[in-house]
Amino acid sequence: MSRPRVLSGVQPTGALHLGNWLGAIRNWVDLQHSHDTYFCVVDLHAITVPHDASRLAEDTLTTAALYLACGIDPERSTVFVQSQVPAHSELAWLLNCVTPLNWLERMIQFKEKALRQGDQVSVGLLDYPVLMAADILLYDADLVPVGEDQKQHLELARDIAQQRINARFAPRGSDGEPEPILKVPAPLILRDGARVMSLTDGRSKMSKSDPNEGSRITLLDPPELITRKIKRAKTDAALGLEFGNPERPEADNLLGLYALLSGKDRDTAAQECAAMGWGKFKPMLAEATCEALRPVQERYQQWRQDPGALKAVLEQGRLRADAVAQITLERVRRALGFLPVGR
Ligand code: TYM
Repeated sequence: MSRPRVLSGVQPTGALHLGNWLGAIRNWVDLQHSHDTYFCVVDLHAITVPHDASRLAEDTLTTAALYLACGIDPERSTVFVQSQVPAHSELAWLLNCVTPLNWLERMIQFKEKALRQGDQVSVGLLDYPVLMAADILLYDADLVPVGEDQKQHLELARDIAQQRINARFAPRGSDGEPEPILKVPAPLILRDGARVMSLTDGRSKMSKSDPNEGSRITLLDPPELITRKIKRAKTDAALGLEFGNPERPEADNLLGLYALLSGKDRDTAAQECAAMGWGKFKPMLAEATCEALRPVQERYQQWRQDPGALKAVLEQGRLRADAVAQITLERVRRALGFLPVGR
């Protein structure tokens, strides 16, 4: 029996932050042992908002090196760059032509990002979820480990596969039953870490696009900077930290981070900090964060000091990914009725 497939990715827009790690990449690492795993650096998604061309390639390498530094093992997983496998763009076009415009117009992330950009909004930003669907569907992924904010995009990918491709174009097998063209993927959103919130506002999520750098901790922040950001993080007037109090989103978020980063379970962390003031808690959280990130930062430096090794990982990944993606793309092309090459 072949192992179930997993695909996921992160955009190479600046250094990844704790939300990307705890909400997504951390879970990828565990899945490598039980699943056939594909992780791409989604550079085509990174240009859906205005981007700096002089940084894109470098940010792509940084992101790939961070995957490896976080524990993605290139012997177990296929690590590759999305734009280097042309099938992503091609399948996205085919899916574009069957996806209703109003499905995209109601995507929450599109509405939020479009609001911020005014008249700079590109067609690519609207189309972002279709490209994401292509990423997933090309690999016949069973599971897609992501943070909570990607749930709606995953539902869209499922709907496109099921309602717009399989239901309309599936050929009949010898038994008369339709043979699905695309596998319908399921999201994997684990509760812990699925929604890491901003350090400066416990009601909005930690995000790469927040103009305030103090709102997030990146995986490459040095210990002094981490300590400073945590020291300045928003607090409230109450004594003791607790989970689940809707009036205290900062307490919930920072206590959750403490539990995850120190490796303690939530009950133990909650008991430890139940009567603790912020002045005592914050240095403890800073220490746990620096300690958790130290090995990641060390491994990151090792990968960056060996560009040949990183390049080899990405080239091997590209070849493996391309082989799988071509098969799916060909299946879709055939089902949609295109003239086969060479006929
Ligand atoms: P990106 O780069 O915005 O986010 C990458 C991953 O990090 C998760 N994440 C968070 N998790 C918890 N708390 C947060 N504050 C937080 N911020 C981000 C995201 O949920 C995501 O899992 N559209 C995707 C990239 C993508 C993709 C794909 C993912 C493109 N194609 C195919 C899976 C499969 C995204 O959100 O990137």
